[in-house]
Amino acid sequence: MAQASPVTAGAGSIAEEAARRRTFAIISHPDAGKTTLTEKLLLYGGQIAEAGAVHAKRNRKASTSDFMEIERKRGISVSSTVLRFEHREVVFNLLDTPGHRDFSEDTLRVLAAADAAVMLLDAAKGVEPQTLRLFEVARARGIPLLTFVNKYDRPGLEPLEMLDHIETVLQITPVASTWPVGIPGDFRGVVDRNTGVFHRFTRTAGGATEASEELLDAAAAHEREGDAWDVAQEELELPDHAGADFDAEGFASGRTTPVFFGSAVSNFGVGLLLEALETLAPSPRPQPVAGGDGARALDAPFSSLVFKVQANMDPRHRDRVAFMRVCSGVFERGMRATNARTGKPFALAYAHEVFGDERAVLDTAYPGDVVGVVNAADLRVGDTLYVGDAVEFPEIPTLAPEHFVTVRNRDTSRHKQFHRGIEQLAEEGVVHVLRRDPVADPNPVLAGVGPLQFEVAVDRLEREFGVTVGVDPARWTVARRTDAEGEAAIRRSGAGDVLYRRDGTPLAVFVDEWWLERFARDNPDVTLDRLLTR
Ligand code: G4P
Repeated sequence: MAQASPVTAGAGSIAEEAARRRTFAIISHPDAGKTTLTEKLLLYGGQIAEAGAVHAKRNRKASTSDFMEIERKRGISVSSTVLRFEHREVVFNLLDTPGHRDFSEDTLRVLAAADAAVMLLDAAKGVEPQTLRLFEVARARGIPLLTFVNKYDRPGLEPLEMLDHIETVLQITPVASTWPVGIPGDFRGVVDRNTGVFHRFTRTAGGATEASEELLDAAAAHEREGDAWDVAQEELELPDHAGADFDAEGFASGRTTPVFFGSAVSNFGVGLLLEALETLAPSPRPQPVAGGDGARALDAPFSSLVFKVQANMDPRHRDRVAFMRVCSGVFERGMRATNARTGKPFALAYAHEVFGDERAVLDTAYPGDVVGVVNAADLRVGDTLYVGDAVEFPEIPTLAPEHFVTVRNRDTSRHKQFHRGIEQLAEEGVVHVLRRDPVADPNPVLAGVGPLQFEVAVDRLEREFGVTVGVDPARWTVARRTDAEGEAAIRRSGAGDVLYRRDGTPLAVFVDEWWLERFARDNPDVTLDRLLTR
């Protein structure tokens, strides 16, 4: 059964409470081991006494939350959006991200609420093409990235090959924080490059409890591991990333990433990763405000950013939950804030820490924490709530869609439900809803990064709004945000078409890159922006 968060009530000042928060996300390709690593972080964080492998995911839908999955299989307390745990005085907020590339936009939104991310790679596969987009999104956000190379207990790339691969594919400089001893498949442990200490691991049955770790100095490690130790030492002396020193500034700006080797399933290296999250990952900082005009101080009155809206999360609570990250001040349940978009007051009476099937009332939260606001019909992704001096945080960017379909309502008697459903999906950011005519379009165009988004949209329209829809593929594959001038130029050129977002912003859409490039060449002054903002 779900249980209330074990986090202790904050007793310190806002600055002290913010300083002990670490808000991060794990991004990875499905099957790289995110569920396992999350579970093991909980184990090492002292939240669960025993972990067991999460089984039978075959029937899992790509849109299902990984956290929900853990909760179902393990009966432990997790939320579908944020998992909060406290370890050695540090409060960790681990935000869930979908693993599939088609949901990269969700990842982008979650990263707007995270201060750091763990990039999780499979030792045998490295950065998989389908996931590249997720990592690019993280890189584009410029947030600090820690890399965990998982499944080192199995044959995979040599550590130096892995570092080269990361650098080539992601254009980020990897710097080894730990170095494996033993070859992939015969993994003995890792050297902590900070201390020079060898962490020698012993398997526990199924990795259920913390791996027993022996800490050995260089002489003892040489004695114990012989050649395997010497080879690791030689590799570490090479004047490349393996030998490079950690660069705090490069890490802070997302240009370099510290790399940790391990095996989540057998717990190897998980403790060191948790330690790094504590010591390297940044605590919440003053959040820059829209228009590049300074930042909201952490101890300013309460403010928050809505980064996710989800309706009907739980069939027993048919409502809409908005998740917001506290950016400044103290959140107190029952407080009245102002929504910067509408200028209207918003009462935060129904704020909860939302767990999969149970909601714990949340009374207080500090910068970095995530609050679920129930019955949040008026809140949208990107909204800023504040108390005191008015503030608005920058819009959360959205990605240029690459897939388009026209959606038709098959049951005209359910016209209202159809439009309400479409509106709901758009507000949650499930898909982009575009129109051929800025005012109204009976058959709107749904656009997204991947076709799975449409499957989710159609399924939800049917199940939640009782409407049967037909979808016809549309021929565009490229979209760019433009303006009135661009709109006119496209109509003149005939190189592409114009669709409109719900807020009236025109989008230039093209059949393929060739037509986009041709149009851009002929109209060099026209705005064609890849990142769409809502
Ligand atoms: P995901 O959430 O990223 O999709 O991955 P998940 O943790 O479910 O892990 C995917 C598979 O990889 C699981 O195997 C899991 O046991 C395995 N795995 C995770 N970490 C490691 C590791 O460090 N080493 C090895 N060798 N395997 C690892 P499965 O066969 O799909 O399920 P199960 O029956 O083993 O649970």
